[in-house]
Amino acid sequence: MKVNKHYQELEESYLFSTIAHKVADYQAAHPDADIIRLGIGDVTLPLAKSVVQALHEASDEQGRKETFHGYIPSEQGYPFLREAIQRYYAGRGVALDTAEIFISDGAKSDLGNLLDLFDADNTVLVPDPVYPVYVDDNVMAGRRITYMPASAENHFLPMPDENTKADIVYLCSPNNPTGATYTRSQLKVWVDWANAHDAVILFDAAYECFVSEEGLARSIYEVEGAKTCAIEVCSFSKIAGFTGTRCGYTIVPQALARDGMNLNKMWLRRQTTKFNGVAYIVQRAAAAVFSEDGMREIQQNLDYYRRNAAVIAAALDEAGVWYCGGKNSPYIWLECPAGMGSWQFFDWLLDTAHVVGTPGEGFGRCGEGYFRLTAFGDAERTKEAAARILAALKTLG
Ligand code: MLT
Repeated sequence: MKVNKHYQELEESYLFSTIAHKVADYQAAHPDADIIRLGIGDVTLPLAKSVVQALHEASDEQGRKETFHGYIPSEQGYPFLREAIQRYYAGRGVALDTAEIFISDGAKSDLGNLLDLFDADNTVLVPDPVYPVYVDDNVMAGRRITYMPASAENHFLPMPDENTKADIVYLCSPNNPTGATYTRSQLKVWVDWANAHDAVILFDAAYECFVSEEGLARSIYEVEGAKTCAIEVCSFSKIAGFTGTRCGYTIVPQALARDGMNLNKMWLRRQTTKFNGVAYIVQRAAAAVFSEDGMREIQQNLDYYRRNAAVIAAALDEAGVWYCGGKNSPYIWLECPAGMGSWQFFDWLLDTAHVVGTPGEGFGRCGEGYFRLTAFGDAERTKEAAARILAALKTLG
């Protein structure tokens, strides 16, 4: 028998597992250290009240014979949730057919699952630095991966040029890890490039809810022509704290065809075969996010995280450290001080301030020399972390 040898080409462990192990080792060696974790982008606020109420009500329904729900009638998701998502997009001027919306158990799963639609003999283009899942999914499948450097020079927003060649392109905006966010006109350039080159854009919109500035896109479908070249993947994790509840959605336009096949039909075929849908109670909870109360409560949570980002930014400003992000994104991407490498800064910050962040190099070679902090922490702990970071940076002179 033969196994998939491409697994040998992967890093020993997934970035956030490596960090978790490093921090656990440090804690074991320093049991008294009060470590603040601003590494992985996991939320800290509980689910909104209306979401919890929906979970309770749906659980009660599942406990009564007359309201019990068994297998989900459509693997694509319940109409009540798909219609709520349709209205959410319509509110931003994006018209979607509910047949284009597929409920998932989170963005990360579908970012990998979507690759079932494409031949292994395709070239994939990813930005560098990049959310490591895009790379690892394609390494596992044995696909060719090329990188487009994102740097301070291009404001961490790489654009295609006459030499750009790829079949599948990953774009994440607002970006994980850099927080950089494409304008609609920049995305239009990508969309025109993809349509002209027969390529497909996999657009990760997991952080769209953080966009607050005018002119920035929250969905690639705000751009004309995107429905013939882009699949959008989104999540309830960041907008509504579903990191432990698990729900997301993927939009595959009906107008998207490649190589003589319709990708919406292919995805429906794939999902009906390999997926039995997301739990009824979770879909009810997700739908509550879009209720009037849900939206209000969620905005309060997002504002809480935005204030955390401002607290971190203020400390970096005071220390004179360069950074970007934090405005339309929960991530702050900073330049490591004193010429430190990103893992070196990780160790230094853990040891000096007992604060955990994510080394930029973990997101790719171009991330070397940079470091990511998340604003998803508890507010008091974030203030404490910012004060410790500032005090530590001051010791560098
Ligand atoms: C991150 O820290 O990059 C994210 O939380 C990872 C994820 O959403 O899977």
